[in-house]
Formats: sequence, C-alpha cells, structure tokens
Amino acid sequence: MRTQVCIIGGGPSGLLLSQLLHRAGIDTVVLERQSQDYVLARVRAGVLEWGTVEMLNEAGVGARMEKEGFVHTGTYLAARNKGFRIDFDQLIGKKVMVYGQTEVTRDLYAARASMDGVVIHGTEGVALHALDTDAPFVTFTKDGTEHRIDCDYVAGCDGFHGPSRKAIPANVLKEYERVYPFGWLGVLSHTPPVSHELIYANHERGFALCSMRNANLSRYYVQCPLTDKVEDWSDSAFWDELKRRIPEDAAETLVTGPTIEKSIAPLRSFVAEPMRWGRLFLVGDAAHIVPPTGAKGLNLAASDVHYLYHGLVQFYQGDDEGVTKYSEKALARVWKSERFSWSLTTMLHRFPNQSAFDQRMQEADLDYLESSDAAKKVLAENYVGLPF
Ligand code: APR
Ligand code: PHB
Repeated sequence: MRTQVCIIGGGPSGLLLSQLLHRAGIDTVVLERQSQDYVLARVRAGVLEWGTVEMLNEAGVGARMEKEGFVHTGTYLAARNKGFRIDFDQLIGKKVMVYGQTEVTRDLYAARASMDGVVIHGTEGVALHALDTDAPFVTFTKDGTEHRIDCDYVAGCDGFHGPSRKAIPANVLKEYERVYPFGWLGVLSHTPPVSHELIYANHERGFALCSMRNANLSRYYVQCPLTDKVEDWSDSAFWDELKRRIPEDAAETLVTGPTIEKSIAPLRSFVAEPMRWGRLFLVGDAAHIVPPTGAKGLNLAASDVHYLYHGLVQFYQGDDEGVTKYSEKALARVWKSERFSWSLTTMLHRFPNQSAFDQRMQEADLDYLESSDAAKKVLAENYVGLPF
C-alpha cells in the first residue's frame, strides 16, 4: 500500500490531521491500535480554545459543536471560600467553547467515514522504517497479516505511549519532564452543573474543579494523593470533599447524584524535542503532555496539527519551508502552554510538605489576580489560547 502521509494514531491529533489533509487533496492512512468504541470511551477534558474551534470548523466538523457546545466568556477562580471571575470577553475580547473531547473525536470519526477516509483499527506492531531517507515506510499486522505502507511522511499522532517518539534516536531526542506529586480524581454525573462557568478552587485541603459537558452532565475533580485508588472514594466521600473545597455559595447549591464515571489521573509536564526527525513528525501527546489544569492537551494537539497541515500543503505545492520549520514553530507555542499549565497547577494545588508560607503565596497570587486587570489579562490570554 502507498499513501502520501501515514498517520499513526486515531485520536484527536491523527483524525484532525487526516481530515484536513484529505480536504486539501492529500492522501492519508490512519493506523489505530484500538477499536473506535475504545477510543470514544476515553473521558478527557472539555475546553476548546477559539483557535481549535476555528480549525474544527475549517475541517468541516464543527456543526454539532456549534449546536451543542457552550460558549464561555469567562471562568471563576476561588480561594478561602471566595470566588472571582476572569471575564475573557471584557478583558481581551475572546472566549472559549466547552465541548467534550469525546464529542470532538466522535465528530471527527463521523467526518472521516463520510469522506471514506482510511482509518484502520486493530493494528498491531506498528513499526516505523527508513525515516532518515526520502522513502520512509510503516509496517504493521492486522488479523495476523503483515502490511507495509510506503509514504512521503509519517505523522506520529500516537500519544504518550506510542512508538513514534521512540523512533527518534536517543542521541537526537531530548526530553523534559516534571511529574506532580498528586493526581486528579474525576467524576461524571447526570446532574446540572453547579455553575454556568468553570470554577477552579485553591483550598488548603487541595485543588477542586467544577466543569460540565451539558446542562445535565457535570464533570468535577478533586486533587488526591497518588496513592489513592478509585475504590477508596465512595460517591458521598467525593461530594463531601468537593463541597469542602469550593466556595460555600456553590457548595450549598451543588446537586449531587450517582457518578457514572470515576477515575484518577496522574499529572505531568513533558516535552520531547525535536518534533521532527527526517520524515517523521511528532504531533500532540506523542510530543508533549500538560497537567490538565489549563485544559491545554487537546488545544496543543490542534496547534501542532495547524502547523503540520499547512506545512504539508505547502510541501505538496513545492515549498518545504513549512515542514522544515514545523518543529521550531510548534515547540515555540508548546513551551508557552507548558509554562501556563505549570504555573496554574503550581498556584492552585496543595503540594506535599507545603509550608504555611507557601499557602499564603498561592493566596497572594490569587488576591493579586482578583485585584488587577493586568494580571487577569495575562491569565485570560493564556487560557483562551495564544495565537497560532
Ligand atoms: N499503534 C497504533 N495506534 C496507537 C499506538 C500504536 N502502537 N499507540 C498508541 N496509539 C493510539 C492510541 O490508541 C490513541 O488512540 O494513538 C492514539 C493517540 O491519541 P491520544 O493519546 O488521545 O493523543 P492525541 O491524539 O495527541 O490527543 C491529545 O488527547 O489524551 C488526550 O489529554 C490529551 O487532550 C489531549 C489529546
Ligand atoms: C473538563 O471539563 O474535564 C476540564 C475542564 C477544564 C480543565 C480540565 C478539565 O482545566
């Protein structure tokens, strides 16, 4: 088999890249290890930067998002039982869209199917070859049969645990990492969201976040020790802890109910450089991970796709500047989002052995934010997404 761009990974990165390239007349094949149902069962974040919204519309997959998504013009931060709002629209004239990543992925799969896009599920043993030549190829097995795909380029959209990053020689690849000493315990419940916008709460007991998926599907998180297990947390224990950490006025109106999903996720900051080696490009979680605090994961995947899509279109028009500069341009934006996600995580979470002074520093950060439009603007422009 031959294609122009072989895409490894059928998550948001791989599907969005495939959809955009297909619409530009560039052939792709997507290789996905899991079934479509498995990919769609993953529960992920739900805040889209406006640049991501525009890319989804450009890819022709934004209709349901426009209909079912929630445009948010601000968010709440809270500490010491008091919340305040960051008004993105008033401060910088921008907004975000709240629409679950699962739904984005569902829309992308539907669009791929409607265009007869080639997405091969259940691939095993994907291996990348001859990346440092002008004739790279990918091999894999499916249902016991060996396959080879010859291509011009390979897009490694295979997430943190995929084979693409590992295909870059150890003497070329440089990795940067910070692992946080806590996790997020998240739940979904068929209950109305406690607030019309998100609430990020700093509390001496730990961070909490109130989010949503729709008018009757809420998403909540509390920071927890990495040693905790999901089975350690009954629904009532979760609701009681969430109420302790969010402002009283929110806790009093919180509608609780049975959780339909409960999971604990670790937090890490991670970047691999370079994001290109020979004919291989790394995209999305294959190249970088952010703590979910700033809701940057999917949005960084989208900006990588933006740079690579335009670079590949340019390449097939005879100009290789875009693909040559992909890694440099993508990393410039990745590092700024990593910084924002790290800073928000540092400000809002309780760290083990944190001193009373450290807690006061976090509270002073939040007090300064509440009292300064300049400080709010800095947070707002990073939260809604820096320009591509
Ligand atoms: N062969 C084929 N597919 C693979 C392989 C492999 N060896 N290894 C991983 N994959 C697939 C995974 O099954 C997954 O569906 O690659 C896909 C990678 O998708 P994601 O991990 O979702 O990464 P990405 O598409 O970059 O999206 C980033 O998703 O994980 C969230 O927080 C993250 O919001 C961010 C977004
Ligand atoms: C979510 O809705 O899951 C969510 C929202 C904002 C975040 C993280 C997660 O920062």
